[in-house]
Formats: sequence, C-alpha cells, structure tokens
Amino acid sequence: MKNIKYIVSPGKSISGKFRVPGDKSISHRSIMLGALADGTTNVTGFLSGEDSLSTLKAFQAMGVDIEGPVDGNVTIKGVGIDGLKAPSMPLDLGNSGTSMRLMSGLLAGQKFDVTLIGDESLSSRPMKRVTNPLALMGAKIDTTEKGTAPLKVNGGAGLKGITYDMPMASAQVKSCLLLAGLYADGKTVVTEPAPTRDHTERMLTGFGYKVGVNGATITVEGGGRLTATDIDIPTDISSAAFFMVAAAIADDSEVVIQHVGINPTRTGIIDILKLMNANISIEKEKVVGGEPIADIRVKSSGLKGINIPEELVPLAIDEFPVLFIAAACAEGKTVLSGAEELRVKESDRIQVMADGLVELGVDAQPTEDGMIINGVGKGGRPFAGGTVHSHHDHRIAMSFAVASLKATADIEINDCVHVNTSFPGFAHLAQQVGIQLQEVEV
Ligand code: S3P
Repeated sequence: MKNIKYIVSPGKSISGKFRVPGDKSISHRSIMLGALADGTTNVTGFLSGEDSLSTLKAFQAMGVDIEGPVDGNVTIKGVGIDGLKAPSMPLDLGNSGTSMRLMSGLLAGQKFDVTLIGDESLSSRPMKRVTNPLALMGAKIDTTEKGTAPLKVNGGAGLKGITYDMPMASAQVKSCLLLAGLYADGKTVVTEPAPTRDHTERMLTGFGYKVGVNGATITVEGGGRLTATDIDIPTDISSAAFFMVAAAIADDSEVVIQHVGINPTRTGIIDILKLMNANISIEKEKVVGGEPIADIRVKSSGLKGINIPEELVPLAIDEFPVLFIAAACAEGKTVLSGAEELRVKESDRIQVMADGLVELGVDAQPTEDGMIINGVGKGGRPFAGGTVHSHHDHRIAMSFAVASLKATADIEINDCVHVNTSFPGFAHLAQQVGIQLQEVEV
C-alpha cells in the first residue's frame, strides 16, 4: 500500500464555516442494524472512511444487498435478524476496532462460522475484553494466545443472557454484548462503570427494539426483531475536534463546524476545552433521528492548563491526542489521569503522543494512565520542527498537523495513510481553513 506523509509548516490563523465527515460510530451501527432489520434502511451522512467501509463490505460478504455510499447515501436491504449468510472468506476489518468488537458479539449468535482478521494495529489490540464475557454467554470464539485477532467465531453456540459488570468503560464492549443479547435466550444485562457513548442503545430503540436503561445498567431481551428506519448521521465530533483545537490555539481565528453530533456521551471535548478557557458556542441545536446535533463555533482564546476531571475521560476518549496539543499551548500545567484505555487504541496514544511532543520540544511526561504537560501559554510557540511518527494511528497524524499552527519550523508527520479510516478529505479541508499542509506520497 502506498503511504503518505504530511509536511506541515508554521501557520497563523484559520477560519471557515464547514462540515466534517459523518460520525464513525453511528455509521458502523447503521450498517449492522440496517442489515439485520426487516425492510429497507436509507442512510444519509454515512462516513465513507475505510473503517465504516470495512463494516459495509463485511455485511455485503454475508449476503446483504447494500448500495452506496454515494455522497453519503447508503441503502441497506435488511435480511432480518436471522438472514445473514456465511461469508466465503475471512472478513477483513482493516484498522477498525469498532467493527471487530461489535461484530464479534453479533456473529457469536449466528449459525455459521466466521473468521475476523485485521491489519497490524488491529491484530495487536486486546479482544479478551469481548471474548471473555461472550464466553460466559456460551459463545465459542478462538483468539491467538495473546488474546488478539484473528478471531474464529464458531457458530451455532446457542447464547444465553448474562448479567455483566463491565471492568472498563468501553462502548465497544457494551455494544458487543447488547448485539449478542439480541440472539440470547432471556435477558442480557450490562452495567458500565462510567457512561460511554450510547449510540447502540439509541439506534436499537430507533429500529423498534426494546432497550431498558436504568442508570448505568442496560438490558435487552433476545428474540425480538428490528424494523427498518431511515437514519440521518450527524458529522463526527471526534473529527470536528481537530478544528476546534486548531481555532482555539491559533491567533485571530474563528471556525463554525456545522451539523455536529453533540450526544452528551461524546461532548467531553467541549467541556474540557471550556474548562481550559476556550471560547466555544453551541448554536442551532436540534434533534435528528434521536441524536442531538448543533453548529459549533470556536474562536481563539488564551488556554489555561487544568487537571482534567476523570469523569470526563470516557466522554472524550478519542480526543486526547489533539487535547495534548491544546495542553502544550495552554498556560501552565495540564494533568490527565485515569486514561489507561488510551494505551490500547489504534496505537498506544500516551506513549506515541509523548514521543512526538518531546521530539518537538514540548515538556510532556507520560504516566501509566495519562500525561503531564507544561504548556507555554498564549503568544508562545511550543512546537519546534522535527519528525514525528503516527504509528498507523489516524488521530495522531491529524493532531500533529494541528500543532503546526503553533510551530516554529516544519513538522514532518510519517505514516498518514490511516487518516482515511475516519477522515477522508482531512488534508484538503485543513488546507482550505489555513493549515499549511503538504501531502507527499512515499
Ligand atoms: C467506539 C468506542 C470507543 C472509541 C472508538 C469507537 C464505538 O472505544 O474509542 O473510537 O464506536 O463504540 P472503546 O469502547 O474501546 O472505548
């Protein structure tokens, strides 16, 4: 595969009113539930990124007729809850942890065997967090000795509902078990240690499936059916985050990011940036298809270092790479703790970000479960030039592109091809708003 590197040069201000691509989490779920529903589901705003396309192709390989995406439109002819067919080959889920973890639950309930594979990054990520509770439900899934993919999901297991206290705050684990629960005898009851994104619960409800939510405990009962419905996917707050931080740290800047999903289980980035003194306003709020959306306006401001409240960590879990860039620009110390989950994302986001930040001259110290960063404050430029590595991780690459707005020399960012997993068109949009970014094929 051809790779791409970014060369970003010191920038000044950014501005613009624009949309970012569709929400990745909701895009995955729209394919999964649309495929299992009775009837045809029309999706708009679908993310044409490699991760959500991996899910789309996997369901096509299991006999589901799916058209698109064309301009974000996807049509899924649902096959019904028991209508999937055995694929003729292993399902390659690329870089996508969400596809693998959610699908392992859904596929554990099928009558056929299926093998799930992924790229180098996905093949090193922990899967026991889903295969252990699934085994309690009666699923038969083989992993490598290390508990990683390939996953061989053996069909015909006959699942039974369980009551499960999740050891970590993970929407992927929760969703995996709820999807397995659709096929289980009796009730599947999952309790999470802290709130995580609830798109699965909302979308199941949208498809007419009964989901019980009582505080931190979510219940589904097997044996029901899903009814097709149309889905309008908001744009992804995790992609908007790069431009939110960009406008906050750059001088004389203002952006409006339109039609962004602001589900309260995803808005930790807004809360954390506001605590850091960012100038953010939420405009034109409305609810579309069960998900709240709004335009987000961000203006330059003098950011301040903070102790990030631990309860906000799961609500901003994908945004820490770019929040570390914000912290380097903020006045004083920012401390993140309680975020050990960052070590098992597409890369070890604590180590990889710390390495890159230190390479660029930032005072950053990684800890077991977070990071301590001493920022320079408004007027300073904390990033010297240098070369950083994204380690197959889209969000690392985009975060260092944002850092260029406060750099003193060029930054070379290696291994940026994975930006396409979540944010096709990032380089072009970044250039349009005023980030000095050059894309080079290598
Ligand atoms: C996701 C959940 C989160 C997040 C990932 C998408 C989802 O992962 O990091 O990008 O769509 O459910 P965890 O559940 O592992 O925290």
